[in-house]
Amino acid sequence: MSDDLARRLHDYVNGLFVREDEALAFVREQTALHDLPQINLQPHEARLLQLLVWLCGARKVVEVGTLAGYSAIWMARALPQDGKLITIDNSAKHARIARDHVMRAGLENKITVLQGDGRQILKKLTTDAPYDLLFVDADKVSYPHYLEWAAENLRAGGAILAHNAFWGGGIFAPATADGRGVAEFNQVLANHPRFESTIIEIGDGMAIGVKVH
Ligand SMILES: C[S@@+](CC[C@H](N)C(=O)[O-])C[C@H]1O[C@@H](n2cnc3c(N)ncnc32)[C@H](O)[C@@H]1O
Repeated sequence: MSDDLARRLHDYVNGLFVREDEALAFVREQTALHDLPQINLQPHEARLLQLLVWLCGARKVVEVGTLAGYSAIWMARALPQDGKLITIDNSAKHARIARDHVMRAGLENKITVLQGDGRQILKKLTTDAPYDLLFVDADKVSYPHYLEWAAENLRAGGAILAHNAFWGGGIFAPATADGRGVAEFNQVLANHPRFESTIIEIGDGMAIGVKVH
């Protein structure tokens, strides 16, 4: 497929299926204005994530890597009335800005933003397991650790989703700790006895593992 056709198809899908409302557009604008890294999901990736939350009938979701709350808001909108999403970020600034955005989107009853290190907070969340879905989009070196948490703390039929599963191609001959983290995550996920899995070729790759045992 030519690059031109791929771009036209991308625009076609986005035009038809990806609707970013004012609250979500605001989050992206603010991300730039507050001088935060603009590394949130792209709208078409976030739309896929939202549909996967719907598909697995999730009521209890955990996210590691909040930034300004963009992906959290997309996911929370796929939760039922009593659904809950806990999102974790180790940056106090990101957590504060995300809380403002969650309020502005009217989702404060569904989304809780916790500030702290992903590994440490996940340890505390085990008391409320099982969860339906874990989305990881934070420190890549911890991806393998987050996978093992998911194996222990998701219900059967629940899913782990991981952003940047291609790490910009850095998974082929990983030269950095981040690249090695993502490559190891993919390798372990592909062979994990408790997950059926693949990587969806969207953006920088979205790994998905459904817990089957
Ligand atoms: C790629 S951004 C998340 C983007 C967000 N998921 C979105 O699409 O809107 C990664 C975030 O992970 C956070 N982070 C990095 N290391 C972390 C850690 N060890 N624990 C928790 N959060 C971490 C960063 O502060 C940053 O806000």
